[in-house]
Amino acid sequence: MRRIFSGVQPTGNLHLGNYLGAIRNWVHLQQDYEDCLFCVVDLHAITVWQDPTQLRASTREVAAAMIAAGIDTEKSIIFNQSQVPAHAELAWIFNCVARMGWLNRMTQFKEKAGKNKENASVGLFAYPNLMAADILAYKGTHVPVGDDQKQHLELARDIAQKFNNDFGVDFFPVVEPLIFGEATRVMSLRDGSKKMSKSDPSDQSRITMTDDADAIAKKVRKAKTDPDALPTSKDGFEGRPEAANLMGIYAALSGQDLAQVIQDHGGHQFSQFKQDLADLMVDKLQPITTEMRRLADDPGYIDGVLKRGAEKARALSEPIMAEVHDIVGFLRP
Ligand code: TRP
Repeated sequence: MRRIFSGVQPTGNLHLGNYLGAIRNWVHLQQDYEDCLFCVVDLHAITVWQDPTQLRASTREVAAAMIAAGIDTEKSIIFNQSQVPAHAELAWIFNCVARMGWLNRMTQFKEKAGKNKENASVGLFAYPNLMAADILAYKGTHVPVGDDQKQHLELARDIAQKFNNDFGVDFFPVVEPLIFGEATRVMSLRDGSKKMSKSDPSDQSRITMTDDADAIAKKVRKAKTDPDALPTSKDGFEGRPEAANLMGIYAALSGQDLAQVIQDHGGHQFSQFKQDLADLMVDKLQPITTEMRRLADDPGYIDGVLKRGAEKARALSEPIMAEVHDIVGFLRP
């Protein structure tokens, strides 16, 4: 059986990188996999401080984006992590399976904790264990993620294997990453060498899923470029991260491969290409952002979707967790 699990954090405004790198790919996966679980990972969010009111709003915004982008709430399961107890429970068990040394190697922890490691939350350190639990509480087999999550998935495989080994069982599956091609990594509009991010202080660095047509056009027009014309081959991206990023975004949004975009737009001036890119962006994003705005006015509907999703997720995780209890040696109620 093949089962998809993926997650997005409800932290701050969703942006184009979240859409192209994650949510949009999930929409396509629904056709090819029997079960798909798409999770708003609020437990992960609180590994760094979140304002409670803001967290609630962001959780609903991410769910709205999934629905607006075309995730089918009948076919797939959309839910928020904290409504299903298996995540936190299995994460605890994995805290006792994973080794300190494994987690000490995680580059995302080093980046997020920064200089002051002593002051990072214990949750931030154990973050990858919770991620492994997310997937394995459902015996997920395939996990679509961006490049930056590959190391965490490797760890999930190690945890599953060690659990199976320690207890002498063949229980958890080996998780396969699904890494997507063009523009899984959308870069900042102000600096083509940095990832587009919710935490960048400059709002000009990202296109958010709440930007209207005007805001999109303005941000694209102001995006950083260099003085040369667009490259006419992939080799021309050498030392030109902004050209690579903008053309990559164009490819992802238009559904073309990069070679095609280079063929059609190579040699053009940035000013002209930016116009084309802004038009394409508005064209592709407008229907989604409009629907997101409509859903934002109906939080009761979103909460209902999340509640039903959580019920379905609980029903899948409960028998798996019951077996985990038996394997570990916990008495069952
Ligand atoms: N860590 C992922 C991110 O920041 C989000 C995430 C949490 C996730 N749990 C997951 C992704 C399980 C895939 C599977 O992008």
